[in-house]
Amino acid sequence: MSNATLIARFSEQTISSDSGNPTVSRTILFTLLGTLFTSITFNWVSQWLERGRWLFNGPQLLAEKYKNGIPFTIKTPERMYTLVSSPEHIKELGIASESKLSLLATAEEVFQPHHTMNGVELNRLGLQHRILRSLTSNFPRMQDTLGSLARESLTNELNKFPSNSCWKSVSIWDLAQNVIATTNTYTFYSEDLSRDSEFIKAAVQYPQDVFIASEVLRCTPSFLAPLVAWIVTGGHKASKHLIDGLIPMVKERIETFSKTSQRPRDYIEHIIHLYPEGIANRVPNMVRQTLALWFAGVHQPAISQTLFHALVDLCKYPEYQKALYEEIQSNINDYGSLQINKLPLLDSFLKESARLTTSETISLRRKAMNDYAFQDGTKVAKDDWVCVPQRALMRDPTIYPNPESFNGYRFLEQQLESSTKRAAKFTDLDPAYPIWGLGKQACPGRFYAAFILKIVLTEIITNYDVRLRNPNERRTFSWRSSMLPWPTSRIEMRMKEEAN
Ligand code: HEM
Repeated sequence: MSNATLIARFSEQTISSDSGNPTVSRTILFTLLGTLFTSITFNWVSQWLERGRWLFNGPQLLAEKYKNGIPFTIKTPERMYTLVSSPEHIKELGIASESKLSLLATAEEVFQPHHTMNGVELNRLGLQHRILRSLTSNFPRMQDTLGSLARESLTNELNKFPSNSCWKSVSIWDLAQNVIATTNTYTFYSEDLSRDSEFIKAAVQYPQDVFIASEVLRCTPSFLAPLVAWIVTGGHKASKHLIDGLIPMVKERIETFSKTSQRPRDYIEHIIHLYPEGIANRVPNMVRQTLALWFAGVHQPAISQTLFHALVDLCKYPEYQKALYEEIQSNINDYGSLQINKLPLLDSFLKESARLTTSETISLRRKAMNDYAFQDGTKVAKDDWVCVPQRALMRDPTIYPNPESFNGYRFLEQQLESSTKRAAKFTDLDPAYPIWGLGKQACPGRFYAAFILKIVLTEIITNYDVRLRNPNERRTFSWRSSMLPWPTSRIEMRMKEEAN
């Protein structure tokens, strides 16, 4: 029985009773009313405190509430989140249909693509999955060019900071973003554009604009949304620059599509091939789709942040620089090419780094399209979200022994028990390692992400020594459930040949 009902019943009895002592009855009534008031105020204050904590200290709040396998809820400013962490719940999330628990609805709500991404329809026709599958088969052909572009971009980044010493201090976040934007531009668009500094600048700016605009729009009345989005993105300057550069390029590619046999194998080529004919504004729509994928691939939880943390971990645990260097050298074949898929220690190192530092602390976000009940009876109300508290889960000592200590060898197959061997690789899907999601909507870009991370890291490990400039420097700050890179955080790099 609730406090309110109790008090209502008690007041009925005491007020109508002539027989009891009126002073005692009144005292009890006031005490109960006081309790009710305190409890309502306390609930109200604690809900608002929780909402505030969610905004500024979400990862800590999740860590405090997490208990292995037991669902819990968090009141965020917008809605209630139900957090589930048992393998059964996570698998159920992975197979639930979009009409029941929707990933797309969460993305549309958070990013408001209508206002922030030129109205693109996210994952139109399941196109992204199909294109990324085709792209994956081209990795071996792209490896050498991507390696040289990463090398050039690293040199450019280091040259921005002239120094008399052979150690150069660089902003980790700028370096990670620019190198990844350069390599991604080659994979998505063309080699020429990957060397166009204005295009790269806009390509780095665009996801930041979308991210900031979508945050501001979350507290803006809908009738003001177009204006506010326009102001926050500086008149959509970055996306306009990208679109203006890409539309003529795509048109030209389409015109020459059947005329040349030597075709590039980038994302644009695949979208030209797979995008349905006869759709109004086909070329602008195709270009918008490429930008949506650009955002998915570059925005905060994705490649640049994983690279940021992997670089910090290389500095924090320098013994891995030597071990990884040796692994790389022993996998260069007689033709001088690196067999990028045969680097188990690098794969395990990356997986361990992402386990401890994943910048998104929740995964498998789904919006309940109607009231939903999990098989064990856990309920989620319509419009609420359900997610997996992945950072807390991946630090659970019952799943990962000694979870807080960095062990770059943790995921080497020979280290694992036979039951977990099948999920040894960085890109493997596993409820105990949900950074890629699970099921049919699991990240289709994960093979590309792992491939590009390995290319950039092998370039760095082969050619540079890295160290932290200040081991106590701040590395991240939190906003909602994300742990974002601290933009001024720096590392120092030195060409290996200059050390000798
Ligand atoms: C380290 C880098 C990345 C991480 C951690 C990551 C993580 C994720 C996660 C958690 C999801 C949602 C899956 C689910 O909830 O079941 C997702 C979806 C997606 N990711 Fe990634 N991703 C990364 C890189 C990329 C890249 C490089 C691309 C493209 C080039 C990409 C394209 C996509 C797309 C298109 C979806 C939506 C899938 C759908 O709607 O069915 N991601 N990613």
